Amino acid sequence: MIEDPPIKTRIVVLISGSGSNLQAFIDARDDHQLNAELVAVISNRPEAGGLARAAHAGIISRVIDHRDYPERIEFDRALATAVAEYAPDLVILAGFMRILSSEFVDQFSGRMLNIHPSLLPKYPGLNTHQRALDAGDTEAGATVHFVTSKLDGGPQIVSGAVAIANGDNADDVAAKVLDIEHLIYPMAAQWYCETRLSMQDGATLLDGEVLPTTGQTIKLAGKTAK
Ligand code: GRF
Repeated sequence: MIEDPPIKTRIVVLISGSGSNLQAFIDARDDHQLNAELVAVISNRPEAGGLARAAHAGIISRVIDHRDYPERIEFDRALATAVAEYAPDLVILAGFMRILSSEFVDQFSGRMLNIHPSLLPKYPGLNTHQRALDAGDTEAGATVHFVTSKLDGGPQIVSGAVAIANGDNADDVAAKVLDIEHLIYPMAAQWYCETRLSMQDGATLLDGEVLPTTGQTIKLAGKTAK
């Protein structure tokens, strides 16, 4: 008897920039670490480097340029329509640099993830690495979380921490943090694909347990994840 192939989670990835996190998803899929179909990549910027990564991987891509929409809500509606056309099970914000309206967020509630380059709840918003340096922090990192209408404030899933060394500047920290982003983001998505991860009553549930508000923490010390 021929068995049906396993059903793959349909993922739409939203980008604005270089798309290194998108690349991590493509690589994880190719390495069978992510049981998902990357059904489309949508960028709000025509010049986003991630579009070439999508093309190279044979993934459909679209540009919905926010500058074509005088009102934020009009852009969000066009984006929502485009995303919905691909019937995603999961929407991945991967360096997507637009704040989304609650109308958009509600449409994909519980099935949209973001990665933010800080150890949330520290430093929501921009310039996270410089802010960590200015505060004299010894650790920086990134956090994967469910998207809610609170900016960078949805239930946390997993954080990855890296050490800040003496003399590091913001670019040095960003490079280390990106390494851990590429590790934790596809990993969290795979938990979702395995139906181990969900958002319920404003909290993260992993394997049936409510996670603490800071989610799981993984330390990347000398590249050893634990
Ligand atoms: C990442 O640091 C991500 O956390 C932030 O923007 C950066 C985008 O990187 N939101 P990329 O486009 O995935 O390379």
